Amino acid sequence: MIAEALQYLATSALTGSQHRRYIRYSVNLWSRASRCSKDWASHEANCKDAVRAAISGLSQRRTAVVLGSGLLKDVPIEDLAESFDTVVLVDLVHLVSVRLRLKGKRYRNVRLIERDLSGYDDLKAGRDPEPFGFLRGVPYLDFVVSANLLSQIGRGVKRQFETEVSSGMPADSVERLISAHLQGLADLPCRTCLVTDISYAVIDRTGKVHEEADLLHGVAPPEAKARWDWPVAPLGEESRDYQIVHKVIAAW
Ligand SMILES: C[S@@+](CC[C@H](N)C(=O)[O-])C[C@H]1O[C@@H](n2cnc3c(N)ncnc32)[C@H](O)[C@@H]1O
Repeated sequence: MIAEALQYLATSALTGSQHRRYIRYSVNLWSRASRCSKDWASHEANCKDAVRAAISGLSQRRTAVVLGSGLLKDVPIEDLAESFDTVVLVDLVHLVSVRLRLKGKRYRNVRLIERDLSGYDDLKAGRDPEPFGFLRGVPYLDFVVSANLLSQIGRGVKRQFETEVSSGMPADSVERLISAHLQGLADLPCRTCLVTDISYAVIDRTGKVHEEADLLHGVAPPEAKARWDWPVAPLGEESRDYQIVHKVIAAW
């Protein structure tokens, strides 16, 4: 609890006021990631392998952008920082522990951007969502990875949408913003990699599935080159008798 409180306070001091409300989600993710580190290890290794495969053979390595960089657990930051001139990490929040880790590695070519990547504000203003429009201002873009971000956008948008029911947001906002993310990636003029969980299942000790849900709300993801299971809540994390397992895909 003390470590969480320190993370929270130190990160608050470094985070813009419009993004401070998201710090608690990042701190919760950080706590869970450390509690579940053994169970998450193969998921994290698979994510890093997907990114390495996506950049292999890339002849120009000037700027790489990581969307949803978060804790940098499932991103091979060492490989990216060593092989690209500049690496831009984009997230709602960059925890102080992540900033310290980057400082400790003395990366001179890693930049942090705090930004909402959902496109929610575009939709709210009645515009077509263009969540990656800001990338047009990033020079020499050679690679973009969306790193376990898409399902979180769906969750965040759903949460925000439900608290702003009378705001005039279209009823299909979640689906539209998930589609905008996929289309935005597909339209980028560089190599891309999408790593995302696409569904979850609640499974008991006998292996029986009790509940399943589509995290992409019916929007079809691109064809996967790799897929695996991620035990997001292994037995004992949320319940003694049930685990929650997400299906993850990688496409590049
Ligand atoms: C499951 S975590 C990804 C973990 C990260 N790739 C890593 O290597 O540790 C999802 C990340 O997406 C970020 N996120 C969620 N919604 C976002 C949004 N609308 N815009 C930008 N980042 C968002 C969260 O802050 C979190 O860091």
